[in-house]
Amino acid sequence: MPAPARYLKPNIALEPLYNQWYAWWYLIAPHTAPMFVAHLHVRIMQSFLAAPDIHVAALKNPALMGGPYINYSVDRAPDIKRLLDRTLQDQAPSLRFVEALAELDKLLAASSGHSLEGLYAKVPELLRGYVELTYDLNHRASARFLEPLLYRSPHHRESSQSMVFRRIEQDARPYVFSTPRLDAEGGVHVRAPFRHAAVDQLFAMRTTPGSVEAIREAFALDPADAEVFSTFFTDTAPRRTPRYDGAGVRIRYFGHACVLVESREVSILTDPVVSYDFPSELPRYTHADLPDHIDYVLLTHGHADHLMLETLLPLRGRIGTIVVPRNNGGYLADPSLKLLLRSVGFPRVVEIEDLDSFDIPGGSLTGLPFLGEHADLSIRAKTAHLIRLEGQSLLMAADSNAIEPQLYDHIVQAVGEIDVLFLGMESEGAPMSWMYGSLLHTPLPRKMDQSRRLNGSNGERAIEIVNRLRPTQVYIYAMGREPWLGHVMVMNYNEDSPQLVESRKLLAHCREHGIVADMPYARRELFLGT
Ligand SMILES: [Fe+2]
Ligand SMILES: [Fe+2]
Repeated sequence: MPAPARYLKPNIALEPLYNQWYAWWYLIAPHTAPMFVAHLHVRIMQSFLAAPDIHVAALKNPALMGGPYINYSVDRAPDIKRLLDRTLQDQAPSLRFVEALAELDKLLAASSGHSLEGLYAKVPELLRGYVELTYDLNHRASARFLEPLLYRSPHHRESSQSMVFRRIEQDARPYVFSTPRLDAEGGVHVRAPFRHAAVDQLFAMRTTPGSVEAIREAFALDPADAEVFSTFFTDTAPRRTPRYDGAGVRIRYFGHACVLVESREVSILTDPVVSYDFPSELPRYTHADLPDHIDYVLLTHGHADHLMLETLLPLRGRIGTIVVPRNNGGYLADPSLKLLLRSVGFPRVVEIEDLDSFDIPGGSLTGLPFLGEHADLSIRAKTAHLIRLEGQSLLMAADSNAIEPQLYDHIVQAVGEIDVLFLGMESEGAPMSWMYGSLLHTPLPRKMDQSRRLNGSNGERAIEIVNRLRPTQVYIYAMGREPWLGHVMVMNYNEDSPQLVESRKLLAHCREHGIVADMPYARRELFLGT
């Protein structure tokens, strides 16, 4: 007799890994992943092995959380050594790819402004046929990567992808970008690519009971893991949330930049980062508060707190279309979000450009320019999303930095005033090297690094946006304040933190001018036009 169908418990997470490191944007794209393996992972492991006690001591200082320190005790050094040795062996093709990129960089730097045709013969063998060499109008040469071909090449190392499924019972989780995962820690490690169809089968069981046995077989699970895996399931039917069927628009803030916008006809989720369901003092919306089908997911940019595979992959079977900004087309620091999401199994991904619109039931979606917050790199894969729905307009501006306020004069002329503004105000931002340092072949001078930051709007700039777009409601979001963001962002705010001081300036300005303004935390529900 077949075993009865069961549900997946609502606090089971999928932790995506690349060569045992938490996977994000740059670890999916085939031309950037090798840079992070060589310049971040290998170097951190070497540094830990050279002086593990320095890492241990550094992480006792909260100010150094988020820095390049491995969060394991000294006695794990042999395990780190094993991972390093295996990385040097298994990832050797990636390490050679990085050397080839460095060589190509040198060739391009030496180019004189004369024809680049002769240079093709000198391009390292590994990169031949995957790059076009071009000049900008100031005769500076660079390489354009033919990304779709790279995804079909041996450089796309899906075999380095794996997933740990495990139970989440509290918000606090260690920071993930500087520490590899050495153990499944009570979970089950599945060596399968992210696009594996059983991921959809498994997470469909959050709402529809299914066969545990079928999932075990589909993932070819190690029999030794069968017992732990079986504890991820329950006979108890989960809490379900019906689609919104009231008038107007319902907005639910899920934390950070994740907002569910619903009308009777359509559901839209922005930058999905969703908390798990477990007993908690802090009320929040969780996966159980999402509708069974999400018509559109809107991504503003690829930063790990906005494009989070951990949340997206389990939702893959429930998402209609993902709308992403278009990239620059082949620039190393700006991989295509469409290609990377397709590569991990999302079938319907559409790109949107600045001022490009398309209709949705009861309204439209429009991409608007998003300046700054990327260390002045020519990264175009970022957009603010204008949602028009049921006669209301909402701008999800994410980490837009109003460096040039006149942009918003032009925007208001093009699309009119808006009703509701959601804006991030992480006005300090990390220095460039924190996110992009691994893409460089030579380290940045410290002063340059500190001056080029990942900062969003400060109070003054946010006020410029508000004065031009004239919203009636303003919400400061995407601040990394919720505790379930701690593994990807380290934000130890106190009342005097500049980001909160700047946010209060905007809130005060709005309230003085009769604009509803707030900074939601953890959970908030709003209605428009009801
Ligand atoms: Fe960002
Ligand atoms: Fe952000």
